[in-house]
Amino acid sequence: MEIIVSKYCKNFDYEIDFIVDKKLGKDLKKEAEFLGFTFGECEIVNIQSAKKILVSIKDSSDKENFKIGACKALKLLKTFQVESVKVNTPAEKDAVAEGLFLGNYTFDKYKSEKKKSKLKKIFIEGSDKEKISIENVAKVSKYVNFARDLVNSHPEEIYPESFVKVVKKEIKDLPISCKVLEQKELEKENMGSLLAVARASRHEPRVMHLTYKPKNAKTKVVLVGKGLTYDSGGLSLKPADFMTTMKSDKSGGVAVTASICAAASLGLDVEVHAIVGLVENMIGGDAYKPDDVLVARNGKTIEVKNTDAEGRLVLADCLDYACDLKPDYLIDMATLTGACVVALGDYSTGIMGHNGKLKHQMFSASEKSGELVGSLPFNRYLKELIKSPIADMSNIGSSRYGGAITAGLFLDNFVREEYKDKWLHLDIAGPAFVEKEWGYNPHGGSGAGVRLITEFLKDI
Ligand code: BES
Ligand code: ZN
Ligand code: ZN
Repeated sequence: MEIIVSKYCKNFDYEIDFIVDKKLGKDLKKEAEFLGFTFGECEIVNIQSAKKILVSIKDSSDKENFKIGACKALKLLKTFQVESVKVNTPAEKDAVAEGLFLGNYTFDKYKSEKKKSKLKKIFIEGSDKEKISIENVAKVSKYVNFARDLVNSHPEEIYPESFVKVVKKEIKDLPISCKVLEQKELEKENMGSLLAVARASRHEPRVMHLTYKPKNAKTKVVLVGKGLTYDSGGLSLKPADFMTTMKSDKSGGVAVTASICAAASLGLDVEVHAIVGLVENMIGGDAYKPDDVLVARNGKTIEVKNTDAEGRLVLADCLDYACDLKPDYLIDMATLTGACVVALGDYSTGIMGHNGKLKHQMFSASEKSGELVGSLPFNRYLKELIKSPIADMSNIGSSRYGGAITAGLFLDNFVREEYKDKWLHLDIAGPAFVEKEWGYNPHGGSGAGVRLITEFLKDI
Protein backbone atom coordinates (compact mmCIF):
# COMPACT_ATOMS: atom_id res chain seq x y z
CA MET A 1 0.00 0.00 0.00
CA GLU A 2 1.28 3.40 -0.98
CA ILE A 3 0.22 6.84 0.22
CA ILE A 4 0.33 9.52 -2.44
CA VAL A 5 0.19 13.18 -1.51
CA SER A 6 -0.55 15.63 -4.31
CA LYS A 7 -2.40 18.85 -4.97
CA TYR A 8 -5.20 17.26 -6.98
CA CYS A 9 -6.47 13.73 -6.72
CA LYS A 10 -8.82 12.10 -9.16
CA ASN A 11 -9.54 8.55 -10.29
CA PHE A 12 -10.20 6.74 -7.07
CA ASP A 13 -12.62 3.92 -6.26
CA TYR A 14 -13.63 4.96 -2.77
CA GLU A 15 -13.32 7.76 -0.21
CA ILE A 16 -12.76 8.13 3.51
CA ASP A 17 -14.40 11.24 4.97
CA PHE A 18 -13.42 12.46 8.41
CA ILE A 19 -16.45 14.09 9.99
CA VAL A 20 -15.47 16.65 12.60
CA ASP A 21 -18.11 18.46 14.72
CA LYS A 22 -20.90 16.41 13.14
CA LYS A 23 -20.50 18.45 9.94
CA LEU A 24 -22.18 16.15 7.49
CA GLY A 25 -24.35 16.95 4.45
CA LYS A 26 -28.05 16.19 4.75
CA ASP A 27 -28.10 13.38 2.17
CA LEU A 28 -25.34 11.34 3.80
CA LYS A 29 -26.51 12.19 7.30
CA LYS A 30 -29.85 10.52 6.75
CA GLU A 31 -28.31 7.35 5.44
CA ALA A 32 -25.55 7.29 8.05
CA GLU A 33 -28.05 7.61 10.87
CA PHE A 34 -30.22 4.96 9.25
CA LEU A 35 -27.21 2.64 9.45
CA GLY A 36 -26.88 3.31 13.17
CA PHE A 37 -24.06 5.87 12.96
CA THR A 38 -24.17 7.98 16.12
CA PHE A 39 -21.19 10.34 15.74
CA GLY A 40 -19.35 8.57 18.55
CA GLU A 41 -15.57 8.80 18.93
CA CYS A 42 -13.71 7.18 16.00
CA GLU A 43 -16.93 5.51 14.87
CA ILE A 44 -17.04 4.40 11.22
CA VAL A 45 -19.84 3.65 8.79
CA ASN A 46 -19.76 2.47 5.19
CA ILE A 47 -22.13 4.28 2.82
CA GLN A 48 -22.13 1.96 -0.14
CA SER A 49 -24.25 4.20 -2.39
CA ALA A 50 -21.81 7.11 -2.05
CA LYS A 51 -18.72 4.88 -2.01
CA LYS A 52 -17.61 6.49 1.19
CA ILE A 53 -16.54 5.44 4.62
CA LEU A 54 -17.33 8.06 7.22
CA VAL A 55 -15.18 8.46 10.32
CA SER A 56 -16.56 10.58 13.13
CA ILE A 57 -14.18 12.61 15.25
CA LYS A 58 -15.76 14.07 18.37
CA ASP A 59 -12.65 15.52 19.95
CA SER A 60 -10.55 16.93 17.13
CA SER A 61 -7.98 18.30 19.59
CA ASP A 62 -6.74 14.74 20.20
CA LYS A 63 -4.68 13.59 17.23
CA GLU A 64 -4.94 9.98 18.40
CA ASN A 65 -8.58 10.00 17.28
CA PHE A 66 -7.53 10.65 13.69
CA LYS A 67 -4.97 7.81 13.83
CA ILE A 68 -7.42 5.31 15.28
CA GLY A 69 -10.20 6.39 12.91
CA ALA A 70 -7.90 6.08 9.88
CA CYS A 71 -6.82 2.62 10.99
CA LYS A 72 -10.42 1.44 11.42
CA ALA A 73 -11.44 2.70 7.99
CA LEU A 74 -8.38 1.11 6.38
CA LYS A 75 -9.11 -2.29 7.92
CA LEU A 76 -12.64 -2.25 6.56
CA LEU A 77 -11.49 -1.09 3.12
CA LYS A 78 -8.96 -3.89 2.90
CA THR A 79 -11.86 -6.36 2.93
CA PHE A 80 -13.44 -4.62 -0.11
CA GLN A 81 -12.55 -5.11 -3.76
CA VAL A 82 -11.15 -1.59 -3.93
CA GLU A 83 -7.80 -0.51 -5.40
CA SER A 84 -7.57 3.19 -4.72
CA VAL A 85 -8.95 5.50 -2.06
CA LYS A 86 -8.98 9.21 -1.41
CA VAL A 87 -8.92 10.58 2.12
CA ASN A 88 -10.80 13.77 2.92
CA THR A 89 -9.92 15.34 6.23
CA PRO A 90 -10.32 18.92 7.43
CA ALA A 91 -7.25 18.60 9.69
CA GLU A 92 -4.41 16.43 11.02
CA LYS A 93 -3.18 14.92 7.77
CA ASP A 94 0.02 13.73 9.46
CA ALA A 95 -1.97 11.85 12.09
CA VAL A 96 -4.23 10.29 9.45
CA ALA A 97 -1.17 9.14 7.49
CA GLU A 98 0.42 7.73 10.65
CA GLY A 99 -2.76 5.78 11.44
CA LEU A 100 -2.66 4.36 7.91
CA PHE A 101 1.05 3.45 7.93
CA LEU A 102 0.88 1.83 11.37
CA GLY A 103 -2.59 0.34 10.91
CA ASN A 104 -1.57 -1.34 7.67
CA TYR A 105 1.00 -3.50 9.48
CA THR A 106 0.52 -7.25 9.49
CA PHE A 107 2.87 -9.98 10.62
CA ASP A 108 2.26 -12.96 8.36
CA LYS A 109 5.84 -14.19 7.89
CA TYR A 110 4.96 -17.54 9.46
CA LYS A 111 1.61 -18.03 7.72
CA SER A 112 1.70 -20.39 4.76
CA GLU A 113 -1.27 -18.57 3.24
CA LYS A 114 -1.12 -14.79 3.34
CA LYS A 115 -4.23 -12.66 3.22
CA LYS A 116 -4.03 -10.31 0.25
CA SER A 117 -5.96 -7.08 -0.14
CA LYS A 118 -6.66 -5.29 -3.42
CA LEU A 119 -5.90 -1.88 -1.95
CA LYS A 120 -2.87 -0.31 -3.65
CA LYS A 121 -3.09 3.46 -3.40
CA ILE A 122 -4.34 6.00 -0.89
CA PHE A 123 -4.48 9.61 -2.00
CA ILE A 124 -4.31 12.59 0.32
CA GLU A 125 -4.70 16.08 -1.15
CA GLY A 126 -1.98 18.35 0.14
CA SER A 127 0.60 21.05 -0.54
CA ASP A 128 4.31 20.42 -1.10
CA LYS A 129 4.90 21.27 2.54
CA GLU A 130 2.30 18.78 3.70
CA LYS A 131 3.82 16.18 1.40
CA ILE A 132 7.24 16.56 3.03
CA SER A 133 5.69 16.35 6.45
CA ILE A 134 3.88 13.11 5.56
CA GLU A 135 7.11 11.71 4.09
CA ASN A 136 8.71 12.22 7.48
CA VAL A 137 5.81 10.42 9.15
CA ALA A 138 6.41 7.57 6.68
CA LYS A 139 10.07 7.36 7.67
CA VAL A 140 9.35 7.03 11.37
CA SER A 141 6.45 4.61 10.76
CA LYS A 142 8.75 2.43 8.66
CA TYR A 143 11.03 1.94 11.66
CA VAL A 144 8.12 1.36 14.03
CA ASN A 145 7.06 -1.45 11.72
CA PHE A 146 10.65 -2.68 11.50
CA ALA A 147 10.69 -2.84 15.30
CA ARG A 148 7.40 -4.79 15.32
CA ASP A 149 8.80 -7.33 12.84
CA LEU A 150 11.96 -7.85 14.83
CA VAL A 151 10.11 -8.22 18.14
CA ASN A 152 7.60 -10.66 16.64
CA SER A 153 10.28 -12.87 15.10
CA HIS A 154 10.79 -16.02 17.12
CA PRO A 155 13.91 -16.77 19.19
CA GLU A 156 15.32 -19.47 16.92
CA GLU A 157 15.42 -16.84 14.20
CA ILE A 158 16.54 -13.88 16.29
CA TYR A 159 19.37 -14.55 18.74
CA PRO A 160 22.27 -12.20 19.51
CA GLU A 161 24.33 -12.96 16.41
CA SER A 162 21.40 -12.92 13.99
CA PHE A 163 19.97 -9.75 15.59
CA VAL A 164 23.19 -7.97 14.64
CA LYS A 165 23.01 -9.40 11.13
CA VAL A 166 19.46 -8.13 10.59
CA VAL A 167 20.41 -4.67 11.89
CA LYS A 168 23.54 -4.45 9.72
CA LYS A 169 21.36 -5.11 6.69
CA GLU A 170 18.80 -2.52 7.76
CA ILE A 171 21.37 0.27 8.25
CA LYS A 172 23.14 -0.30 4.94
CA ASP A 173 21.76 2.86 3.36
CA LEU A 174 21.78 4.96 6.53
CA PRO A 175 24.67 7.05 7.91
CA ILE A 176 25.07 4.73 10.90
CA SER A 177 28.16 2.80 11.88
CA CYS A 178 28.10 -0.45 13.81
CA LYS A 179 30.62 -1.89 16.25
CA VAL A 180 30.03 -5.29 17.77
CA LEU A 181 31.63 -6.66 20.94
CA GLU A 182 31.83 -10.46 20.88
CA GLN A 183 32.49 -12.90 23.75
CA LYS A 184 36.28 -12.28 23.97
CA GLU A 185 35.86 -8.51 23.91
CA LEU A 186 33.10 -8.63 26.51
CA GLU A 187 35.49 -10.56 28.75
CA LYS A 188 38.18 -7.96 28.14
CA GLU A 189 35.64 -5.27 29.04
CA ASN A 190 35.00 -7.07 32.35
CA MET A 191 31.28 -7.27 31.68
CA GLY A 192 30.92 -9.97 34.34
CA SER A 193 27.28 -9.23 35.02
CA LEU A 194 26.13 -9.51 31.39
CA LEU A 195 28.33 -12.54 30.73
CA ALA A 196 26.88 -14.47 33.68
CA VAL A 197 23.36 -14.16 32.28
CA ALA A 198 24.54 -15.37 28.88
CA ARG A 199 26.49 -18.40 30.04
CA ALA A 200 23.95 -21.21 29.68
CA SER A 201 22.83 -20.28 26.18
CA ARG A 202 24.16 -21.97 23.07
CA HIS A 203 24.13 -18.50 21.53
CA GLU A 204 27.06 -16.25 22.48
CA PRO A 205 26.14 -12.77 23.70
CA ARG A 206 26.89 -9.57 21.84
CA VAL A 207 26.94 -5.90 22.64
CA MET A 208 26.04 -3.88 19.60
CA HIS A 209 27.07 -0.22 19.45
CA LEU A 210 25.48 1.88 16.70
CA THR A 211 26.58 5.46 16.06
CA TYR A 212 24.90 8.24 14.12
CA LYS A 213 27.17 11.27 14.11
CA PRO A 214 26.01 14.14 11.89
CA LYS A 215 28.27 17.14 11.32
CA ASN A 216 27.81 20.02 13.77
CA ALA A 217 25.72 18.04 16.23
CA LYS A 218 25.24 20.05 19.41
CA THR A 219 24.18 17.28 21.76
CA LYS A 220 25.05 13.66 22.32
CA VAL A 221 22.36 11.17 23.26
CA VAL A 222 23.26 7.66 24.32
CA LEU A 223 20.46 5.11 24.19
CA VAL A 224 20.81 1.76 25.94
CA GLY A 225 18.49 -1.19 25.26
CA LYS A 226 17.75 -4.52 26.91
CA GLY A 227 18.06 -7.12 24.17
CA LEU A 228 17.12 -10.41 25.77
CA THR A 229 16.41 -12.44 22.65
CA TYR A 230 14.75 -14.91 25.01
CA ASP A 231 14.08 -14.88 28.73
CA SER A 232 13.26 -18.32 30.13
CA GLY A 233 13.93 -16.95 33.61
CA GLY A 234 17.10 -19.03 33.92
CA LEU A 235 17.31 -21.39 36.93
CA SER A 236 14.63 -19.28 38.63
CA LEU A 237 12.57 -20.65 35.75
CA LYS A 238 9.40 -18.91 34.65
CA PRO A 239 6.14 -20.84 34.89
CA ALA A 240 4.94 -22.02 31.44
CA ASP A 241 2.28 -19.32 31.08
CA PHE A 242 4.76 -16.55 31.78
CA MET A 243 7.45 -17.86 29.46
CA THR A 244 5.43 -17.48 26.28
CA THR A 245 5.85 -14.00 24.74
CA MET A 246 9.38 -13.73 26.19
CA LYS A 247 10.74 -13.44 22.65
CA SER A 248 9.60 -9.86 23.22
CA ASP A 249 12.21 -9.33 25.95
CA LYS A 250 14.45 -7.83 23.27
CA SER A 251 12.00 -4.95 22.70
CA GLY A 252 14.12 -2.30 24.44
CA GLY A 253 17.11 -3.17 22.28
CA VAL A 254 14.90 -3.19 19.22
CA ALA A 255 13.38 0.18 20.14
CA VAL A 256 16.73 1.95 20.56
CA THR A 257 17.91 0.41 17.27
CA ALA A 258 14.81 1.56 15.40
CA SER A 259 15.02 5.00 17.04
CA ILE A 260 18.58 5.66 15.86
CA CYS A 261 17.51 4.53 12.37
CA ALA A 262 14.61 6.99 12.46
CA ALA A 263 16.90 9.80 13.66
CA ALA A 264 19.40 9.11 10.87
CA SER A 265 16.69 8.79 8.26
CA LEU A 266 15.20 12.16 9.30
CA GLY A 267 18.69 13.67 9.38
CA LEU A 268 18.26 15.08 12.92
CA ASP A 269 21.22 17.16 14.09
CA VAL A 270 21.86 15.18 17.27
CA GLU A 271 24.63 12.66 17.79
CA VAL A 272 22.99 9.39 18.76
CA HIS A 273 24.48 6.16 20.06
CA ALA A 274 22.52 2.97 20.61
CA ILE A 275 24.04 0.31 22.86
CA VAL A 276 22.20 -3.00 22.85
CA GLY A 277 22.94 -5.82 25.29
CA LEU A 278 22.07 -8.99 23.36
CA VAL A 279 21.78 -12.08 25.52
CA GLU A 280 19.66 -15.22 25.85
CA ASN A 281 18.73 -16.24 29.41
CA MET A 282 18.64 -20.03 29.56
CA ILE A 283 19.05 -22.99 31.91
CA GLY A 284 21.67 -25.76 31.89
CA GLY A 285 24.74 -27.07 33.68
CA ASP A 286 26.60 -23.86 32.96
CA ALA A 287 23.82 -21.53 34.06
CA TYR A 288 24.46 -18.72 36.53
CA LYS A 289 22.79 -19.37 39.85
CA PRO A 290 20.83 -17.77 42.62
CA ASP A 291 23.54 -17.25 45.31
CA ASP A 292 26.24 -16.32 42.78
CA VAL A 293 28.04 -13.05 43.39
CA LEU A 294 28.88 -11.22 40.18
CA VAL A 295 31.38 -8.46 39.55
CA ALA A 296 30.06 -5.87 37.11
CA ARG A 297 32.12 -3.79 34.69
CA ASN A 298 32.25 -0.88 37.13
CA GLY A 299 33.65 -3.15 39.86
CA LYS A 300 30.48 -3.31 41.96
CA THR A 301 29.39 -6.71 43.28
CA ILE A 302 25.88 -8.15 42.91
CA GLU A 303 24.33 -10.98 44.87
CA VAL A 304 22.07 -12.94 42.52
CA LYS A 305 18.86 -13.80 44.29
CA ASN A 306 16.74 -14.49 41.24
CA THR A 307 18.08 -15.32 37.78
CA ASP A 308 14.85 -14.01 36.23
CA ALA A 309 15.86 -10.47 37.21
CA GLU A 310 18.43 -10.69 34.40
CA GLY A 311 17.63 -7.59 32.37
CA ARG A 312 19.08 -5.28 35.00
CA LEU A 313 22.27 -7.40 35.07
CA VAL A 314 22.69 -6.96 31.33
CA LEU A 315 21.86 -3.25 31.47
CA ALA A 316 24.27 -2.71 34.39
CA ASP A 317 27.32 -3.37 32.21
CA CYS A 318 25.82 -1.58 29.20
CA LEU A 319 25.07 1.56 31.24
CA ASP A 320 28.63 1.68 32.54
CA TYR A 321 29.91 1.29 28.98
CA ALA A 322 27.51 4.06 27.90
CA CYS A 323 28.94 6.46 30.53
CA ASP A 324 32.35 6.13 28.84
CA LEU A 325 30.80 7.92 25.86
CA LYS A 326 30.17 11.04 27.98
CA PRO A 327 26.51 11.51 27.11
CA ASP A 328 24.51 14.74 27.43
CA TYR A 329 21.44 12.51 27.70
CA LEU A 330 21.44 8.87 28.75
CA ILE A 331 18.24 6.91 28.18
CA ASP A 332 17.70 3.21 28.66
CA MET A 333 14.71 1.22 27.47
CA ALA A 334 13.79 -2.22 28.69
CA THR A 335 10.99 -4.71 29.19
CA LEU A 336 12.30 -4.81 32.72
CA THR A 337 9.53 -5.73 35.16
CA GLY A 338 6.08 -7.28 35.37
CA ALA A 339 5.61 -4.87 38.28
CA CYS A 340 5.59 -1.95 35.86
CA VAL A 341 2.66 -3.55 34.04
CA VAL A 342 0.87 -4.03 37.38
CA ALA A 343 1.43 -0.35 38.16
CA LEU A 344 0.51 1.28 34.85
CA GLY A 345 -1.34 -1.35 32.82
CA ASP A 346 -0.51 -2.78 29.42
CA TYR A 347 -0.36 0.43 27.46
CA SER A 348 1.97 2.80 29.29
CA THR A 349 5.72 3.09 29.62
CA GLY A 350 7.09 3.71 33.11
CA ILE A 351 9.45 6.64 33.37
CA MET A 352 12.05 6.85 36.12
CA GLY A 353 14.96 9.15 36.82
CA HIS A 354 16.37 11.79 39.16
CA ASN A 355 15.80 14.85 36.99
CA GLY A 356 12.27 16.27 36.98
CA LYS A 357 12.93 18.60 34.09
CA LEU A 358 14.20 15.75 31.95
CA LYS A 359 11.12 13.68 32.82
CA HIS A 360 8.97 16.56 31.67
CA GLN A 361 10.81 16.66 28.37
CA MET A 362 9.85 13.00 27.98
CA PHE A 363 6.21 13.74 28.93
CA SER A 364 6.10 16.32 26.21
CA ALA A 365 7.49 13.77 23.72
CA SER A 366 4.71 11.45 24.90
CA GLU A 367 2.07 14.09 24.13
CA LYS A 368 3.49 14.70 20.67
CA SER A 369 4.00 11.07 19.74
CA GLY A 370 0.80 9.66 21.22
CA GLU A 371 2.76 7.04 23.17
CA LEU A 372 1.47 6.75 26.72
CA VAL A 373 3.76 7.16 29.73
CA GLY A 374 3.48 7.31 33.50
CA SER A 375 5.94 8.48 36.11
CA LEU A 376 7.19 6.10 38.80
CA PRO A 377 9.02 8.12 41.45
CA PHE A 378 12.22 6.97 43.14
CA ASN A 379 12.53 7.34 46.90
CA ARG A 380 15.14 6.65 49.60
CA TYR A 381 13.13 3.94 51.36
CA LEU A 382 12.73 1.72 48.31
CA LYS A 383 16.47 2.08 47.75
CA GLU A 384 17.03 0.19 51.03
CA LEU A 385 15.29 -2.88 49.60
CA ILE A 386 18.09 -3.89 47.24
CA LYS A 387 20.77 -3.99 49.95
CA SER A 388 22.65 -7.26 50.33
CA PRO A 389 24.41 -8.47 53.50
CA ILE A 390 27.27 -9.97 51.49
CA ALA A 391 27.65 -7.89 48.32
CA ASP A 392 27.24 -4.27 47.22
CA MET A 393 23.64 -4.97 46.27
CA SER A 394 21.13 -7.69 45.51
CA ASN A 395 19.52 -8.10 42.10
CA ILE A 396 15.95 -8.07 43.49
CA GLY A 397 14.11 -6.06 46.10
CA SER A 398 13.24 -7.66 49.42
CA SER A 399 9.58 -6.62 49.24
CA ARG A 400 6.76 -7.83 47.01
CA TYR A 401 5.92 -4.23 46.20
CA GLY A 402 7.50 -1.46 44.18
CA GLY A 403 9.34 -3.84 41.84
CA ALA A 404 9.54 -1.48 38.87
CA ILE A 405 11.13 1.22 41.00
CA THR A 406 13.56 -1.07 42.83
CA ALA A 407 14.70 -2.31 39.40
CA GLY A 408 15.25 1.32 38.34
CA LEU A 409 17.16 1.97 41.57
CA PHE A 410 19.33 -1.07 40.89
CA LEU A 411 20.29 0.46 37.51
CA ASP A 412 21.12 3.73 39.25
CA ASN A 413 24.20 1.99 40.70
CA PHE A 414 25.68 1.78 37.21
CA VAL A 415 25.10 5.36 36.14
CA ARG A 416 28.16 7.36 37.17
CA GLU A 417 27.66 10.37 39.44
CA GLU A 418 28.15 13.00 36.73
CA TYR A 419 25.43 11.43 34.55
CA LYS A 420 22.74 10.83 37.19
CA ASP A 421 20.87 13.98 36.20
CA LYS A 422 21.15 13.14 32.52
CA TRP A 423 19.64 9.70 32.84
CA LEU A 424 16.12 8.35 32.29
CA HIS A 425 15.00 4.75 32.60
CA LEU A 426 11.99 3.69 30.52
CA ASP A 427 10.29 0.41 31.43
CA ILE A 428 8.33 -0.71 28.36
CA ALA A 429 7.26 -4.13 29.71
CA GLY A 430 3.59 -3.20 29.23
CA PRO A 431 3.24 -1.67 25.76
CA ALA A 432 6.10 -3.45 23.94
CA PHE A 433 4.06 -6.60 23.37
CA VAL A 434 0.32 -6.90 23.90
CA GLU A 435 -1.60 -10.05 22.98
CA LYS A 436 -4.49 -8.20 21.39
CA GLU A 437 -4.98 -5.32 18.96
CA TRP A 438 -5.20 -1.88 20.54
CA GLY A 439 -5.89 1.33 18.61
CA TYR A 440 -3.66 1.25 15.55
CA ASN A 441 -1.33 -1.31 17.16
CA PRO A 442 -1.42 -4.95 16.11
CA HIS A 443 -1.46 -8.08 18.24
CA GLY A 444 2.11 -8.64 19.44
CA GLY A 445 5.01 -6.24 19.06
CA SER A 446 3.94 -2.58 18.96
CA GLY A 447 7.22 -0.77 18.38
CA ALA A 448 6.76 1.03 21.70
CA GLY A 449 9.42 3.63 22.37
CA VAL A 450 10.34 4.38 18.77
CA ARG A 451 8.00 7.33 18.20
CA LEU A 452 8.52 8.50 21.77
CA ILE A 453 12.31 8.65 21.47
CA THR A 454 12.18 10.12 17.97
CA GLU A 455 9.98 12.98 19.24
CA PHE A 456 12.32 13.45 22.20
CA LEU A 457 15.32 13.66 19.85
CA LYS A 458 13.54 16.14 17.59
CA ASP A 459 12.95 18.50 20.52
CA ILE A 460 16.40 18.69 22.15
N1 BES B 1 11.45 -9.81 31.15
C1 BES B 1 10.92 -9.84 32.46
C2 BES B 1 9.90 -8.73 32.72
C3 BES B 1 8.61 -8.80 31.94
C4 BES B 1 7.50 -9.39 32.49
C5 BES B 1 8.50 -8.21 30.71
C6 BES B 1 6.31 -9.42 31.80
C7 BES B 1 7.33 -8.24 30.00
C8 BES B 1 6.22 -8.83 30.54
C9 BES B 1 12.04 -9.68 33.50
O1 BES B 1 13.27 -10.17 33.13
C10 BES B 1 11.59 -10.41 34.70
O2 BES B 1 11.43 -11.59 34.62
N2 BES B 1 11.39 -9.69 35.80
C11 BES B 1 10.94 -10.26 37.00
C12 BES B 1 11.69 -9.62 38.13
C13 BES B 1 11.50 -10.31 39.44
C14 BES B 1 12.19 -11.67 39.43
C15 BES B 1 12.11 -9.43 40.54
C16 BES B 1 9.44 -9.96 37.13
O3 BES B 1 9.01 -8.87 36.73
O4 BES B 1 8.70 -10.82 37.61
ZN1 ZN C 1 13.50 -12.24 33.55
ZN1 ZN D 1 13.68 -10.22 31.08
